[in-house]
Amino acid sequence: MSVDTASRADRAEELRNALVDTIIADHEAKGLTMPAEVERAMRTVPREVFTPGVPLEKAYENTAVITNRHGDEATSSVSAPYLIAEMLGQASDALGGLEGRDVLEIGSGGYNASLLAEIVGPAGSVTTIDIDPEVTDRATACLKKAGYNDVTVVCADAEHPVEPSRRFDLVIVTAGAWDIPPAWREQLAGNGVLVVPLRTFGMTRSWALRRSEDHLVSHSHRQCGFVSVQGEGAHQMRYVDIADGVHLRLDEGQQTAPDVLADILTQPRQEAWAGVSLPPRTVLADLDLWLATRLTCEAGEFVILTAQEAAVESGIVAPSWRFGAPATLDEGTFSYRSALRWTDRKFDLGAYAHGPEAAAAAGRMVEHMRAWLDAGSPSPALQILPARTPTGDLPDGTVLDKRHSRIVLTFPTASSR
Ligand SMILES: C[S@@+](CC[C@H](N)C(=O)[O-])C[C@H]1O[C@@H](n2cnc3c(N)ncnc32)[C@H](O)[C@@H]1O
Repeated sequence: MSVDTASRADRAEELRNALVDTIIADHEAKGLTMPAEVERAMRTVPREVFTPGVPLEKAYENTAVITNRHGDEATSSVSAPYLIAEMLGQASDALGGLEGRDVLEIGSGGYNASLLAEIVGPAGSVTTIDIDPEVTDRATACLKKAGYNDVTVVCADAEHPVEPSRRFDLVIVTAGAWDIPPAWREQLAGNGVLVVPLRTFGMTRSWALRRSEDHLVSHSHRQCGFVSVQGEGAHQMRYVDIADGVHLRLDEGQQTAPDVLADILTQPRQEAWAGVSLPPRTVLADLDLWLATRLTCEAGEFVILTAQEAAVESGIVAPSWRFGAPATLDEGTFSYRSALRWTDRKFDLGAYAHGPEAAAAAGRMVEHMRAWLDAGSPSPALQILPARTPTGDLPDGTVLDKRHSRIVLTFPTASSR
């Protein structure tokens, strides 16, 4: 090994360890623990091998590295390390450890497959599938270069089984899905686990779901974002402009009347505040799904508000999160969850609204926020059943119908668990 190669390898190791230290601290701040097997793999696999042409320092930033685009849209990336760590942690926790497991990864790149190969060890197996031949070619070359020769790389649409009779302990999806095709459940062994970034109400969470015969039951969830699933299972979101740099994100099939929206934000703003003080570490992503389930039961349409930084800075909107704040549109009145308000050493929850019924709409949204806090800030749970399941056989909860599945979302409280 030349001196240059050796010093680059030393520098990579230094950067890798610093990155893992950061991710562990980030996990702790979120109340999570990184399993030892995940930490060991992350301190071992050289991420720079899977991000060719990217400077070493960038390969060890805690962000995704985009590798393929179609037009403006990213279609493939080497996923962000913290997110990979969280999803591997979800899998490890749900299965009680991953050593010796048979794993199918949907969405290749090579980096996550190498981590999985490190974790499952020689007694396990890793198969990775991607729809894009450019991605599988690159993953194959990078896996070889990094020495992970036992990983099987397949180029196909993962909507269908990779091998009809093959069963896996873990299916881990690394692209954003709108639905769960039957093949993902059917390829799981009896108590197998599916980890999947799934969009419900326009919001994506990584769900760890355990198979129980023909349905899946959630074990954990994390907030996340991913490039979308392509191929037969692709479901596009649509953006409607409502002001310069401000958009409504609509899920497939959702309609809004653009004429109602044209000048909605120029109408006077009304606001309402819950008058609460949030406890530390409150996960507000859970509140957003709560709001979605409550607001969809009312008149009007549930939508997601997104805004560019400049639009937030100029004060046109002040959403709770500019990449996706829960919002409703009801007969010309638009309301959304606003950014938190910091007063008297308290973080308060609020809603802003514009339109003829603005004060009432903001007040209603805030009532739902109070109800969530009063219920003990519950986290959502999911059950996913086949589309053919009769309504009478569904568990209680908010039902979302997709092409292949009926998804039931609930918020178990301490007393209902
Ligand atoms: C975020 S990247 C995967 C990252 C990768 N797991 C890593 O190690 O960093 C998502 C990948 O999913 C792939 N993909 C999207 N839809 C797919 C489908 N229906 N079947 C298989 N792969 C798909 C894309 O081509 C893309 O390469």
